[in-house]
Amino acid sequence: MRLFLDTANIDEIRDLAWLIDGVTTNPTLVAKEKRPFEKVIEEICELVDGPVSAEVTALDADGMVAQARPLAALHKNVVIKVPMTEDGMKAVQVLTAAGIRTNVTLVFSANQALLAAKCGASFVSPFVGRVDDVGGGGMDLVAEILETLQNYAFGTEVIVASVRHPRHVLEAALLGAEIATVPYTVVKQMFRHPL
Ligand code: E4P
Repeated sequence: MRLFLDTANIDEIRDLAWLIDGVTTNPTLVAKEKRPFEKVIEEICELVDGPVSAEVTALDADGMVAQARPLAALHKNVVIKVPMTEDGMKAVQVLTAAGIRTNVTLVFSANQALLAAKCGASFVSPFVGRVDDVGGGGMDLVAEILETLQNYAFGTEVIVASVRHPRHVLEAALLGAEIATVPYTVVKQMFRHPL
């Protein structure tokens, strides 16, 4: 199982660079750093030799593609994070055809994951914490997505996202999810046990 760090904080990434296989950022996480977006992404790519997700903010497909191209050109590790919308999936098709990897974010159903995979997404990110927050079963969603994608040869990998506690990581591993993206504090919690 690969472990990504869900942060845009350079100190956190530097501390765990020896352990992690990639990084996911989002606009909220980058905004917290109060530094230019591209600069933060470039620095992360220098620290971690694995996929680094950088999210587009445009709402239309053309706008997403226009934002994605220069971001992807920043570094070979950059993966473009695209929201799960109809326009987002049009953008994923264009980016995939151009050889640019994508991570479809804000996935809340197996049908959404199926559509993302069909459009060529490299990664899909089901948000387990947010599904749990509204009384759903975040891990049931991951199980459904894994079972659905295993029936085909899309080549899309599942990143378990919106992780809130160590149990989420363990349950993702028990289900055989390829990747979990985990906040810094949760990775630190995973090392410890009260006994
Ligand atoms: C994943 O790529 C996202 O950055 C992240 O997991 C969002 O989760 P949250 O906003 O529910 O914490």
